[in-house]
Amino acid sequence: MRFVNSYLSKIKEYVIKNNLTYSIDTMGCQMNENDSLKYSGILESMGFKEADSKTANLILFNTCCVRENAENTLFGRLGFLKSRKIKEKNVYIVVVGCMSQQKHILDKIKVSYPFVDIVLGTNAMSIFPEKLYNAIINNKKSIEYIEVGNEIEEEVPIKYDDKFKASVSIIYGCNNFCSYCIVPYVRGRERSRTPQDIINDINELAKKGYKEIMLLGQNVNSYGNDFKEDSLKGYTFPKLLKEIEKINGIEIIRFMSPHPKDFSDELIETIKNSKKIARQIHLPLQSGSSKILKEMNRKYTKEKYLEIVEKLKKADKNISFSTDIIVGFPNETEQDFKETLDVVKKVGFDQVYMFIYSKRVGTRAANMTDETKPEEKVNRLERLKSLYEEMLPELNKKMIGKSYKVLVEGKSKNNDKLFTGRTSQNKVVVFEANKQDIGKIKNVEIESEHLWYLKGKIVDD
Ligand code: 5AD
Ligand code: SF4
Repeated sequence: MRFVNSYLSKIKEYVIKNNLTYSIDTMGCQMNENDSLKYSGILESMGFKEADSKTANLILFNTCCVRENAENTLFGRLGFLKSRKIKEKNVYIVVVGCMSQQKHILDKIKVSYPFVDIVLGTNAMSIFPEKLYNAIINNKKSIEYIEVGNEIEEEVPIKYDDKFKASVSIIYGCNNFCSYCIVPYVRGRERSRTPQDIINDINELAKKGYKEIMLLGQNVNSYGNDFKEDSLKGYTFPKLLKEIEKINGIEIIRFMSPHPKDFSDELIETIKNSKKIARQIHLPLQSGSSKILKEMNRKYTKEKYLEIVEKLKKADKNISFSTDIIVGFPNETEQDFKETLDVVKKVGFDQVYMFIYSKRVGTRAANMTDETKPEEKVNRLERLKSLYEEMLPELNKKMIGKSYKVLVEGKSKNNDKLFTGRTSQNKVVVFEANKQDIGKIKNVEIESEHLWYLKGKIVDD
């Protein structure tokens, strides 16, 4: 489905005449970040200008429901806006994203926050301009939307917030139903964009000077499994990566998140032979206990996970790993948790995103009994964090004395002379450079490590 929208121009005159501005508050994952860039693109094509959240006329919340605490954040922020809505003219409040797919959220908004103008579910961007037109021009509210659209929306305007790095969604939705996760319920089944649409987007980005691409999906390596047309059947994620590799100008390809259960040898081979795929793999572990992994419906064991890591390390010893870990899944025992610590020790992650299990109504795990005390869960999170932070300096030190290709991203916040960038391993590096180096790839030799970043010097002639 192409995004053509007559409402964009219908509303523009009013927006420009009244100098309307917008602000977007994004919660959650990179998919949401990417969706927010599209909402910015749509709003700017209507004539809205970006502004501070305190003064903007339109405040859009792009929500996440993966963990419970985001709900309190949203309701706190909505409550805060009530007085503005009462006192000021031309204030519009929009709630979009995963939370809007949940009935209890819609009900709560209707009852406690009736001043919200529009609530839109996921995959509903095409109707956003019309709903906004109704809200602004016809003064009509729309708080009833709860539906996962099935069609992929192509050619949605997008406003990238970076000049050299861009994210591109390749697959929407998820079929995996991990027992703790709400995503398959709110984002629907897997839908892959066609290779042609993806390649066209990346070609355009390359022409504009983008050097680094992040391919996004809830499960990128099941890309293509849903293709029904004969011409696309058998088109896989490795094949897509090989096509993107050919695009001149794109120098770094990243992707997230792959699922360990679909991490094929073909994918490992593709990474090994690629000159552009980043030497950083985000491989969500969730738990190191095979028993808990089974309860989580992850469809791999601790041994299988470690085998993939070993194969990748063998393919290229410079590959670094990052991961997601949930502690305190129902009935995770001390022994199960130790298995997680064991995997962390064996792999040596450069980045660990760690979460305490959060019960999500409607998921299978929500019905499981859970005897573990909340304090114990917090304690496990802290122990995991300590282990990770203990290991990090050692991993960093291995990089000292070696040089790495770094995309120079911009000036360091704290020091005028210093610039920052990331290595292929996604390590932040700080070094002296010139303004002209921004957007270029430079060889940087690492000189020292500082836990969350490295210091180095450019060694190009
Ligand atoms: N509780 C805690 N963490 C969760 N995640 C997903 N669902 C939950 C939940 N119910 C985490 C997983 C996933 C990441 C995006 O969020 O680790 O990989
Ligand atoms: Fe959630 Fe599992 Fe799908 Fe990831 S793969 S979005 S954790 S159900």
